[in-house]
Amino acid sequence: MGQDIAPFQAISISRRAHEMKAAGKRILHMEFGQPSTGAPQAAIAAAHGVLDTEAMGYWESVPLKERIARHYLETYGVEVRTRRIAITCGASPALVLALATAFNPGDRIALARPGYVAYRNTIRALNFEPVEIPCGEETRFQISAAAIEALPEKPQGILLASPANPTGTIIPREELAAIAGVAKRIGARIISDEIYHGLSYGPKIHSMLEFDPDAYIVNSFSKYFSMAGWRLGWLVSPEEGAQRTGAYIGNLFLTAPSLAQHAGLVAMDSRDELEGHVDVYRANRALMLDALPRLGLERIAPPDGAFYIYADISRFTDDSMVFCLKLLEETGVATAPGVDFDPVEGHRFMRFSFALSTDEILEALGRLEPWFRAQPQR
Ligand SMILES: Cc1ncc(COP(=O)(O)O)c(C=O)c1O
Repeated sequence: MGQDIAPFQAISISRRAHEMKAAGKRILHMEFGQPSTGAPQAAIAAAHGVLDTEAMGYWESVPLKERIARHYLETYGVEVRTRRIAITCGASPALVLALATAFNPGDRIALARPGYVAYRNTIRALNFEPVEIPCGEETRFQISAAAIEALPEKPQGILLASPANPTGTIIPREELAAIAGVAKRIGARIISDEIYHGLSYGPKIHSMLEFDPDAYIVNSFSKYFSMAGWRLGWLVSPEEGAQRTGAYIGNLFLTAPSLAQHAGLVAMDSRDELEGHVDVYRANRALMLDALPRLGLERIAPPDGAFYIYADISRFTDDSMVFCLKLLEETGVATAPGVDFDPVEGHRFMRFSFALSTDEILEALGRLEPWFRAQPQR
């Protein structure tokens, strides 16, 4: 029998938000990490073009793999042969592929808590064991080499994300190198989820490939490229794992949507438009950082990148789910409860996504400020 895994609580918040919307209420969606913008214009135009000319059979775009390989060279100075790149339907199947090909049933995978809800659950669903390392303010809510080294039992795998969900924190270069060093020493395989690359508000983002050429790298068109519903991503496997990844993807998933692959290739050269989105997120982040102290939310993780703010709400509640639902009912602002990201401490945290338009952020803050000021403190 399959493992029981927990649902994503933010989905029930979103479902309620959509009911309220259907009843005529204006809702501001800060619960999911998805850009409110669509795919780049040129990518949409390319998709229109091929719709009239292509049969859209099973297809793996060689030009897209070559473009991704060039991206590694240009962005990180790392050479990646195209045979190591698998095109997937987003980061989610890339993560499944990496876990399934790299580990044996029962293997222990170390990861940060808080972290993306699907990590823990996907690890469990595939019959591996998540080893959650509690990460607080001292380590900017991120996994560290020291914490991995201190584990009483050595893990076979390490799963990390920088920038991270739900915090947006970025692991500095030296720490990534130290994690790669520990992994090598203890014989653990690294999976690096680089889905938020391209979204930094200061610190330089490094790929784990710069430090560990044998890491599995997960990436996607869902965030920076603003193409979540197109379902497109990729996995870079280590040289010796590439053939196995190819066999797994062929059997488990076949190919990613042809239409999305055509559009994705063009999106990778739509930098001006995409950097325009980052400018909007930067402005939104500044507005949020300015306003949050007025809401009584002074304790937040430093949002170096991605488009999230993870805030401590313990002065108001010890039940983040009830708190987020009340906030939604009374203001129409949908947010994500911390329990999704951290089953132990998350009852006193919530996550805001600021991947909206700046007008929407201003409208949300206009509703949040009086509401938070009116909340009784514990
Ligand atoms: C850290 C992280 N990894 C993976 C995913 C899944 O993304 P995709 O849409 O590419 O499957 C998400 C989605 O929010 C995420 O936040």
